[in-house]
Amino acid sequence: MSHIIAPSILSADFANLQRDIEMINNSQADWFHVDVMDGAFVPNISFGFPVIKAIKKHAKKPLDVHLMVVKPDRFLQQFQEAGADILTVHYEACIHLHRTVHAIKALGIKAGVAINPHTSVNFLADIIEDIDVVLVMSVNPGFGGQKFIDNTYHKIVNLREIIRAKKSNALIEIDGGVDMNNYTKLLEAGADALVAGNTVFSSANPSQTIADLKKE
Ligand code: DX5
Ligand code: ZN
Repeated sequence: MSHIIAPSILSADFANLQRDIEMINNSQADWFHVDVMDGAFVPNISFGFPVIKAIKKHAKKPLDVHLMVVKPDRFLQQFQEAGADILTVHYEACIHLHRTVHAIKALGIKAGVAINPHTSVNFLADIIEDIDVVLVMSVNPGFGGQKFIDNTYHKIVNLREIIRAKKSNALIEIDGGVDMNNYTKLLEAGADALVAGNTVFSSANPSQTIADLKKE
C-alpha cells in the first residue's frame, strides 16, 4: 500500500473553503486532516461542528478529525454525526483512554490516538491492538507552520516495533512540520500517513505539491 497524504484544512483559505476542498478532491490526497482546537488543551481555537459539517458536504475523501480538546468523551457522537471517518483523541486528554477508544469504535468509525512530542510511544503498548491510527505529533499541537522536531524519527522506529510485536494493524501518522525535505525520511522510518498543512497550502501549486508528497 502506498502511503497516505492528508492535507490539513487548518492551512486552507477559510474564505474559499469550497475551492480548497475541491482542490483536495481532485488531487492525489487520501484524507482531509481536520484540526479541532478548544483553547484549553492547546493555546488556540480553530473551528467546530458547523464547519466540519460544511466540509463533509463537499469532501469526497475521508475526514481525519484530530481533536485537540480536553475531555473529548463529551463530543464523540457529535463529531461522528458531523462527518468524522477517523476520530483521533489525545492520549494526554483521556483519563480512561481504553473506554474512549472503544466508544469511538462503537460509533462505527475508526479510532485514533495522538501523542504529544514529550509522550513516549511505550505508553501505547497496552492499547495498540485496539487503535486504528497513532498520530505522532512532530510539533507541539496548536498551530500550523511550526518547525519539525527531529526526535520524531526514533519514535516512529520504536512505535513500528511495538505494532509489529503486538500484531496490531495500527497506522502511523505524522503531524506537524512535514515538508519536501523530511517526508522521505519519515516514510523510511516507518510512517504510513503524513499530514501536511503549510507545505501544501503555501506552495504555488498545492495539487502538484500533494502529488510530489505521494512520490515514493
Ligand atoms: C497542529 C495541527 C496540524 C497542523 C499541521 O496542531 O495538528 O495538523 O495543521 O500543519 P503544518 O503541516 O503546517 O505543520
Ligand atoms: Zn492535526
